[in-house]
Amino acid sequence: MEIGTPETVKEVLINADQLRSRVAELGAQITADYDGKNPLFVCILKGAVMFLTDLLKNVNIPSQVDFMQVSSYGGATESSGIVKIIKDLDISAEGRHVVIVEDIVDTGITMKHLIELLSARRPASLNICALLDKKERRLVEIPLTYVGFEIPNAFVVGYGLDYAEYYRNLPFIGVLDPQVYRS
Ligand code: PRP
Repeated sequence: MEIGTPETVKEVLINADQLRSRVAELGAQITADYDGKNPLFVCILKGAVMFLTDLLKNVNIPSQVDFMQVSSYGGATESSGIVKIIKDLDISAEGRHVVIVEDIVDTGITMKHLIELLSARRPASLNICALLDKKERRLVEIPLTYVGFEIPNAFVVGYGLDYAEYYRNLPFIGVLDPQVYRS
């Protein structure tokens, strides 16, 4: 099996139409909740990029966006538990209504570290918007304000999510054939 090819995705979990309509709902909800608050969206690279761009097209209030990159997985399919900051924010989070935009919350370890890090900068508020919630894998409790979809414990790719940097370009969320990462 060649990595990145369509036959290595064994099932479509969330199709493009489902993504479009749920992301539009989340954008509308955030627009209503943050009216007059000038939110700062903090997109967690790289997986959340596709979600962020679609989400922001549905946010119709003054707002700003910045990016952070942290690393917990490396090349592995399981979190190492070690979270390293690769890129920090350019815009100060102090006094801002911050919305962390993340593609997936799995064990929650990455998000726990991000919450600690950003809380220390004294934002006016801090909420999380995650496209996917893989709840059954959670090791630490994380308060998620906005969730796109709860998903089962499968290795998912597409719509920004990768395996070995492949599959981010898929317009849907699919389940990766385990043969790809077992071989
Ligand atoms: C993924 C995802 C989260 C984290 C979730 O990032 O985007 O940041 O793992 O896992 P956890 O809840 O178990 O901590 P990854 O390290 O794969 O980086 P990427 O977004 O650049 O692909």
